[in-house]
Amino acid sequence: MKPSILIVNGPGQSNLSDHDGNGHGGLTLTVIREASEALSAKLGARLDFRQTENQDEMFQWIARESEEFDGVIINPVRHSRSATELLRSYRSAVQVIAGLKKPVIEVHINNIYRQSADATQPLYAPEGSMGFICGFGLNSYLAAIRAISLRPDSRDQNQVAGPEMPDKVVVLNGPNLNLLGRREPDIYGKLTLDDLSLRCTKVGLQHGLDVKFRQSNHEGALVDWIQEAIDTAPGMIINAAAYTHTSVAIHDALRAYPGLKIEVHISNPRLRETFRHMSFVSPLVDGIVAGLGPNGYELSVELMANLLNARGRAPKERAALSRANPRTGS
Ligand code: DQA
Repeated sequence: MKPSILIVNGPGQSNLSDHDGNGHGGLTLTVIREASEALSAKLGARLDFRQTENQDEMFQWIARESEEFDGVIINPVRHSRSATELLRSYRSAVQVIAGLKKPVIEVHINNIYRQSADATQPLYAPEGSMGFICGFGLNSYLAAIRAISLRPDSRDQNQVAGPEMPDKVVVLNGPNLNLLGRREPDIYGKLTLDDLSLRCTKVGLQHGLDVKFRQSNHEGALVDWIQEAIDTAPGMIINAAAYTHTSVAIHDALRAYPGLKIEVHISNPRLRETFRHMSFVSPLVDGIVAGLGPNGYELSVELMANLLNARGRAPKERAALSRANPRTGS
């Protein structure tokens, strides 16, 4: 059966070129809609793509209609203090879908945590897990569509043309991730770290990337590997695990690393205990993938391939991107 996906864009999204602070200038909702429809058609998914300036209408769509879909992708309202009440009802609408155990993924074009940790209030769905993808421009949407419609093994392999010389990408994993498969499988899944390493290497190869996968329980080892990558790898995917929430040393090392950076988490820490809401990594990365389970790793490798390709095509654009200073935005 064709998977069906609802994409809901909140107020402000119709005027995207106004908030292109992360270098995604020229991206309009029409471009996003057309690319999303094209990808869905290619993957055999049925897509219903919507945008509204009326928040109430958005809640109604989510609460009343989402049951008919296999997955929902939401680019929510921009943070507004006066909208607390609306946000509350919005969350309860989201809980309805998450409670049905359907995938719900919050997407943003920009990395909303680049400037400040509370640039937006994340959606909250205690009854079910919610994915989160931000910072990849149009690809935030496309990755979410892929996450809902595809099993990893059925991903098409022609998405990105690989460069002639493979780019090296390090995938760094922090403490306790060596216990994957045995550690809280209800949260982190049943795959082991070796399984993830294999999958990342395989997806990397498909995209012309040489993936180096590493794990340590020691903060200093992670710092050493970040430093080593400064001169050896143009891309880094990092799950700093518990150090995400504590490590100024990792934060400082990441500041010194000039390459492309993606933060990945198996769970969505911002929907868990309060001590996991703060990330020393988020303000420094190009994009974030969280709450998509182990599949988030493979998606991150694909997204990294896209980022590296884009950088290769337009180095000046990339330089402008790293200088960009987005204030808010989604
Ligand atoms: C984690 C989330 C962290 O809060 C936690 O300390 C981890 C794993 C994740 O991948 O979901 O160890 O990074």
